[in-house]
Order: sequence, then structure tokens, then C-alpha cells
Amino acid sequence: MTQNFTVSPEGYYGQFGGAHVPEALLKCTQNLAENYRRYIDDPEFQAEYRELLKDYVGRPTPLYRSEKLSSLHGCSVYLKREDLCHTGAHKINNALGQALLAKRMGAKRIVAETGAGQHGVATATACALLNLECVVYMGAEDIVRQHSNVQKMRLLGAKVEAVTEGSRTLENAVDAALRAWCDDPENIYYLLGSAVGPHPFPDMVARLQSVISEEMRAQLLRQEGRELPDYVVACIGGGSNATGSFFNFLDDLDVTLVLAEAGGKGLITGKHAASLTCGETRVLHGANTMVLTHEDELAGGPYSISAGLDYPGVGPLPAHLVDTGRAMVVPITDEQALDAAYELNRMDGILPALESAHALAALHKLDFKPTDIVILTLSGRGDKDLETYLLHADRIGIG
Ligand SMILES: Cc1ncc(COP(=O)(O)O)c(C=O)c1O
Repeated sequence: MTQNFTVSPEGYYGQFGGAHVPEALLKCTQNLAENYRRYIDDPEFQAEYRELLKDYVGRPTPLYRSEKLSSLHGCSVYLKREDLCHTGAHKINNALGQALLAKRMGAKRIVAETGAGQHGVATATACALLNLECVVYMGAEDIVRQHSNVQKMRLLGAKVEAVTEGSRTLENAVDAALRAWCDDPENIYYLLGSAVGPHPFPDMVARLQSVISEEMRAQLLRQEGRELPDYVVACIGGGSNATGSFFNFLDDLDVTLVLAEAGGKGLITGKHAASLTCGETRVLHGANTMVLTHEDELAGGPYSISAGLDYPGVGPLPAHLVDTGRAMVVPITDEQALDAAYELNRMDGILPALESAHALAALHKLDFKPTDIVILTLSGRGDKDLETYLLHADRIGIG
């Protein structure tokens, strides 16, 4: 039987997805779905979006062959350099696309959630460019650990609202943003930053991020004479960089898709955010998906050293990919991610975001053949994580 990885009209990938929201919010999501359908393939929308991706974001981002990673892993390793995007991560691809849509829908104010602050900075940037008012909800815990991104958002003119409920991280920030949208749907556009939430967000975010895999195919053809790699590896929080990196390879079954999720302090401790490995099927933020189990919640979860992966669920498309065996999952601990980040920094002079470092660590857990071509999405740069890297620098002998 051929597998189907496209979204159904109701927003499902297999059993995952949908729009499980209260009546008041259902009107908002339906209105958004109508406008998304209306504009996404509109030539004028696409022309404006593509021009911004090129001249403002700096796309296409390079596909860089790391000689040292290649010899370390005994295959060809390419890095898709989303860290070189304007604002330092892939998040801007989605933020600009949705901000253009919000403009067309006549929104007065944008609200967004953020964990690592990268989506917050990307949204505040898009709002500055397009003259939109911007409010970013951020967990109080994340405000401390991603301080430099908070300052950037403020300088860009965005209001950063601290969320003090629950674990004071991304999960609670999404709740707060959904509440704000529900309270004033006429004037507010909720610009969600990952491939999570009620339909149409997961599909819309994956489509806006699919430029990543579109470029990978064309670049690999030019650089290696073939369009298909053997592996595509990406880290996963909610799944925006992963779905964007996989999107144009979903039906190419010879391409192995690998998701690196946050193993935190180790799965056995319950202190992790490994919802694909340890989760159950439940509704989270309006979508039926894989969510951390009750036991992990009792252990105080979710937890990750990386704010962008510190989320109790994933988007419905990655959940479906794992459920059907189309993608494999590798949990990575904090320590493995830190070591992989220091390793790339010392070998190639590239300091990756802590999130992306999880994908780098996954390379150590896979067996490659010398002829294999591996593309790893380096989703962001590590400037925002400098304090964490310095805090743990004794691992590389720096006191
Ligand atoms: C650099 C970077 N990579 C990855 C992620 C994880 O998000 P997603 O799974 O949506 O790509 C984040 C989230 O903030 C991030 O900042």
C-alpha cells in the first residue's frame, strides 16, 4: 500500500492533526484556513514572499560539505546552513510568510509565542519590516536562558510578555498566545512558530519551511549530480525545521529521514522532552499528536537544556511519519548535544544552536556506508546559547 503524507482537507495526517479547539477558536482557525488556501498559491503572494526570502533572508542558504564531519563519520556530510538566514535561524522563513498573510487578512496586531526566542525575533523582525504591532509571549524561564533574544525583540519594537504559569516555558507561551487570539480574533493574527497547533498551522508552517528541502534537492544535484541524499537529519521541537527539511523527500522512500529529539538528562530520569519516543496519542494545543506521558509530566517534564526543544509534544506530521515508520527518532541527551556543538565549533568554526546540536549528535548514533550522502539541517546559530556553552566549557577543558 502506498503511504500518504499529505494533509487531508480536515487537517489530518493519518490519525494525527485536526482542529480540536473550542467553538470560539474554531471560527478563527476556519477563517485562517480559508485565507491560507486563498493566498498560498497566489502568484502575487508567492512573488512577494520569494523576493523577501532571496533579498532579505539571504536565500538560498548554502549546502556546505564539511570535510571533517565527513571523515569523522565515514560518509559525505553536508550542512544545510539555516544558521546563515537573517536573524540566525530557519524561523524567519515561516514568520515572513505568515506576516504577509496577516497583512492581507487586515490584522492590526500580531501575537506569537517563543521558546528559544528565535521565532520571537523572527516575528518581531517581520513585523518591523511590514509595520505590524507585535506581542510575543515567552515563558519566564526562557526569558532568563535566552536573554539576548529578549533584548533583540525589545529593540525591534515588540512587547515581550512573560508567562509565569506552569513550567514557564514554550508550552505555556503557546497557551497564552492562543488565549490572546481567542479574546480578539477580529484584530489579532496568531503567528505560530512551529508545525504544531490546530489545522491549518501544521500544514502552513511545513509549506512555508519547505523551501529548505526544495533548495537541498537543487543544490545536491549541482554539487553531487544527484537529487536524493541517503539521509536527511533534523532536530525536532515542534517540527518546523524537520518538516521543512523532509517535505520534498517524503515520497522518496530511499531517503532515510531522521529526527533528533530532546533526551534531556536521559529518558530513564523522566527529565526530557522525548515525546516521539516516550509519548502517547493525545490532544495538545488543538491537534491530536504524540504528547509526553503522564509519568513524564509527573517527573516535572518537559525538560531540555535547549529552550527550542523544551515542548511536551510534536506536530502531527512528524508524529505520522514516525507512526508509519517513514522517519526514525533518535533521543539525544543534553550532554551529547553540548559535546556535538563543541565538536563542530572546534572542527569547522561553526557554533550551532543547542537545538541543531541535537541533530549533530545523532550522527554519532547512525551507521553510515562510505557512499552515503547525509544532509543535516543546521537550523540555527549558537550566539543565543553562548552563556550555556560557557557554563559547560569545562567539558572541553576551559575553566
Ligand atoms: C535554532 C532552532 N532550531 C530548532 C528549533 C525547534 O523548533 P522546530 O522543531 O519548530 O524547528 C528552534 C526553536 O526555537 C530553534 O530556535
